[in-house]
Amino acid sequence: MQIRIVANGQHPDAVAALLAELPEWFGIEAANHAYVEEARSLPTVVAIHDAQVVGACLVRRHFPEAAEIELLAVRSSHHRHGIGRQILERVEADARAHGVELLQVKTLGPSAQYEPYERTRRFYRAVGFLPLEEHLHLWANDPCLVMVKPLA
Ligand SMILES: CC(C)(COP(=O)(O)OP(=O)(O)OC[C@H]1O[C@@H](n2cnc3c(N)ncnc32)[C@H](O)[C@@H]1OP(=O)(O)O)[C@@H](O)C(=O)NCCC(=O)NCCS
Repeated sequence: MQIRIVANGQHPDAVAALLAELPEWFGIEAANHAYVEEARSLPTVVAIHDAQVVGACLVRRHFPEAAEIELLAVRSSHHRHGIGRQILERVEADARAHGVELLQVKTLGPSAQYEPYERTRRFYRAVGFLPLEEHLHLWANDPCLVMVKPLA
């Protein structure tokens, strides 16, 4: 699959379309609205296929050394074609170039026992993230797993 990775633009409409297509992962309307608002200003890396955005990642810098993947989504029809991996490779390269040494992502924890996010955690493990801690009270209703990847 021919994919082009593009960084540094803003793609709120494409992010909204991706979220709408992935209800098993992004089923909370208020949270989706917040992601789309964030997509208006946060650095975004997108994957383009046939002139369409098929994947997107929003990145938030917390400290000079630390950044967070705020959102990562690939169109479901395009899963398992290496697009998530390629997007993250670009995110990581750009982060390293700006001095970031540690990348984190917060995702649904294993104690939720929800299968779609088991796939998500397998993806993050496959691309080098390690589970750091599962917080049971950080999010209102769900366990939150913090995963980290050293970039140095
Ligand atoms: C998670 C997600 C971004 C991964 O993107 P992707 O393009 O499908 O993943 P890739 O093809 O780059 O996968 C890279 C590796 O991760 C692992 N992996 C990915 N999906 C997997 C799955 N469903 N089951 C097991 N391993 C998986 C594999 O090792 C894979 O390499 P391989 O295909 O050569 O075996 C995508 O599936 C997605 O958008 N999921 C829904 C939303 C989501 O979970 N976002 C993250 C929220 S925190």
